[in-house]
Amino acid sequence: MGSQGTYAGLFIPGQPAPVNLAPGQQAPTECQVTYDPANNPFHANGNVYRKVPPRNTPTNINAVFNYRNFWDGRANNVFNGVNPFGVRTNLASKQAGVLVDVSGGIQLQQLAIANASLASQSVGPILSDGEMSCTNRAFADVGRRLITTPPLANQAVHPTDSLFKQTPSLLVAPPHNGLTGTYADLIRAAFDPKYWDVKGKYSVDANGNVTKGNGGYTQMEQNFSMFWGLAIQAYESLLISDQSPFDTGTMAADAKRGEGVFTGKGHCAECHNGPLLTNAAKTSQQGGSDVIRSMQMGDGGVALYDTGFYNIGVRPTGEDIGIGGTDAFGNPLSFSQEYVAVLQGQPVPDSFAPPTGANIRSSRVAVDGAFKVPTLRNVALTPPYMHNGGFASLEQVIAFYNRGGNRQNAGCGDTTGFGANCSNVDPEIENRSFNQQDVSDLVAFLKSLTDNRVACHAGPFDHPSIQLPNGYSSALLPDGRTAEVLSILPATGSGGLPASGKPCFPNAGNLFGDLQSAFTTITR
Ligand code: HEC
Repeated sequence: MGSQGTYAGLFIPGQPAPVNLAPGQQAPTECQVTYDPANNPFHANGNVYRKVPPRNTPTNINAVFNYRNFWDGRANNVFNGVNPFGVRTNLASKQAGVLVDVSGGIQLQQLAIANASLASQSVGPILSDGEMSCTNRAFADVGRRLITTPPLANQAVHPTDSLFKQTPSLLVAPPHNGLTGTYADLIRAAFDPKYWDVKGKYSVDANGNVTKGNGGYTQMEQNFSMFWGLAIQAYESLLISDQSPFDTGTMAADAKRGEGVFTGKGHCAECHNGPLLTNAAKTSQQGGSDVIRSMQMGDGGVALYDTGFYNIGVRPTGEDIGIGGTDAFGNPLSFSQEYVAVLQGQPVPDSFAPPTGANIRSSRVAVDGAFKVPTLRNVALTPPYMHNGGFASLEQVIAFYNRGGNRQNAGCGDTTGFGANCSNVDPEIENRSFNQQDVSDLVAFLKSLTDNRVACHAGPFDHPSIQLPNGYSSALLPDGRTAEVLSILPATGSGGLPASGKPCFPNAGNLFGDLQSAFTTITR
């Protein structure tokens, strides 16, 4: 924690954004990885292990309703077709954009698609050297690699997959690995030819000039980040979970009591509000309205903050500043900080409505250490909790709120928000004096937010087979890595996991526990 890696599209400041390569510059199509224990932070006893990114992964189910994504909101509401930073990148780099076949030839055009935060999110991890890529790879390299490949080539696809069964020609015969054709076929079927039909290879220079030849990439390779982002967003827009006991009016008595604690003495609904149980997914935010609010802090002063982002003091602010951070170009991630810059007469990249209400010209902002409020739908299925994965169970989360957060020492080391301007912990984080009954009722309420289709991996939440890293074997591979144990979650179809035995994931989220029998395990 603390040090800013290049995870999920966060570029190293000072290094060029890996948008496109200059003419003539060759991209490393395959990068060399060395597993040298001395230079790898994730090692023990001379063995090298998988990297661990600094934050816990939030759910993609119902994420389409978030105005911005990632814990710190850096997956911009506006998709630029290239990377997570929206208009920020378009202003900073003339090289950013997509190649379009217009009358008169091929041209670089900048994109700004609103309400497309999922597309912004999905193009981040691909080039991150902490997640899915080697350093300095361009998206067009990923395109070059995938375009000629059969989709899902190494995964089993269930014959009744709720999405693919709608196009039976895509499904292959037993053993049902992958889909027919290539990614290029899918792109041609889904996108306007003006984004892929021009022949030849092209490079884009720092001024946005397009040159034919000189190495370069095909139009389809160049635009692969746009295809990737919009396709994943279209898929994730289907992942809407709205059939829990909370929705169908079938909550048990304890869950109903828990709802009363949640909206009443627990003050939970102050931040976990609305149908998604998060203020970060308010439909009122569309078009950039209601994205900045003001609140009275613990010391009585007023501060601006980004709606749906709060510092609840899970860890001291200095460890991870959250939405108080900046993007690769030095712009603040937070709308509140951008608004303060506007008041000082500076230009800012994002578009948003100014806040309304008293004292809004206060230049104090409470965004350092603040994180996006997560949706609580299906939360029982996904421990561990919080941005750092610091709590193993819902009981531990409730104990945290009950004791008024993780209070440290007084003064500026205090994470509570009571020291004058030193800290930004939300004043709603205070002792709640829940009794045992309140705690178990709250847990019952949170469990009643589970949609059985999600727990059973049934349509639209069914999926091809997925390899999940599940620890290590003692074997050392020739390249220096320690062999991993992979548990293979089977492909499911629209009906979900088989009805025999234990059909669904337990509503306590122990993925590798009770359901171990559903997995095949391999070592690699
Ligand atoms: C001041 C706003 C606020 C209040 C009040 C609040 N929460 Fe939260 N909640 C958050 C934020 C922000 C996070 C994520 C914080 C982080 O990871 O640092 C969170 C995280 C959680 C999580 C973890 C979800 C996950 O997927 O990791 C649960 C569960 C939760 N809250 C339940 C509750 C309950 C129950 C209450 C009432 C007792 C409550 N919250 C009160 C803002 C709030």
